[in-house]
Amino acid sequence: MKIIETRAGLQDWSDAERASGRRVALVPTMGALHPGHVSLVREARRHADRVVVSIFVNPTQFNDPKDFDGYPRTLESDLEACRAAGADVVWTPRADELYPAGAATWVDVEGLTDPLCGASRPGHFRGVTTVVTKLFLAARPHVAVFGQKDFQQLAVIRRMTADLGFGLEIVGAPTVREADGLAMSSRNVRLGPRARAQALRIVESLDLAQALLRRGERSHAAILEAVTKKLGEASQATIHYADLRDPTTLEPAPAVLEGPTLLAIALLFQKDPDGRGAEVRLIDNRVLEVDPA
Ligand code: PAF
Repeated sequence: MKIIETRAGLQDWSDAERASGRRVALVPTMGALHPGHVSLVREARRHADRVVVSIFVNPTQFNDPKDFDGYPRTLESDLEACRAAGADVVWTPRADELYPAGAATWVDVEGLTDPLCGASRPGHFRGVTTVVTKLFLAARPHVAVFGQKDFQQLAVIRRMTADLGFGLEIVGAPTVREADGLAMSSRNVRLGPRARAQALRIVESLDLAQALLRRGERSHAAILEAVTKKLGEASQATIHYADLRDPTTLEPAPAVLEGPTLLAIALLFQKDPDGRGAEVRLIDNRVLEVDPA
């Protein structure tokens, strides 16, 4: 496995692979890799001959400097995880190459970035789409793989890729969960034990919504009320959003649900009362089947 730091080094490598007729896949990450990322690398391998993992904690997508400072940085174990997952290249771009002094160019996707995380994290998606554009331009992949846990991010990147004509395939990979159902996230390790236990209310509320639909409930308001009540049992958390939306347009779902419906959730957990853990924001989602067989 090669480790490349410079953009020119990555471009040269990618150009040579493309010239030899090999397909290149990119898995963009911010490091702190867990089995969810490993599944992205494996998915990438199914679509390409060569897999590049980028590791870059992108400052422009953090709207809270505390969150950026506290984001776990675990390069040594990340390199080990990439090696074990079968990556061919790890690209660790330098911040001053991706954002040269005086950088003033942004990529902004309108509309899809307004609700959900866009509303609770102003500027977040502009940072994501700007850095992903820079990653695409350097790695020149045929395919790029993103997790479905960040459902809105995936929708925004698909839109951007189509709008800017990058000519590459975007693949969404299913969310990987801990044994108890919590969606894997680099942030989970920062939860105090009490917050970690309460975080299960998230997956329970996704299950509850699907169970209500199975029993014939179709009322948007009734399902949201049940979900909000369940999430309210996580007394250490504030609900940033719990929303039912169209999975393609991200427009609010109708009053009477009638087709596949996205339930998207974000909670902000406080540190435990005994001081353990940190403030952690978790997201999760499920596309609910409204007419289950
Ligand atoms: O999903 C992430 O880890 C980040 O948002 C991404 C896509 C690597 C951009 O920094």
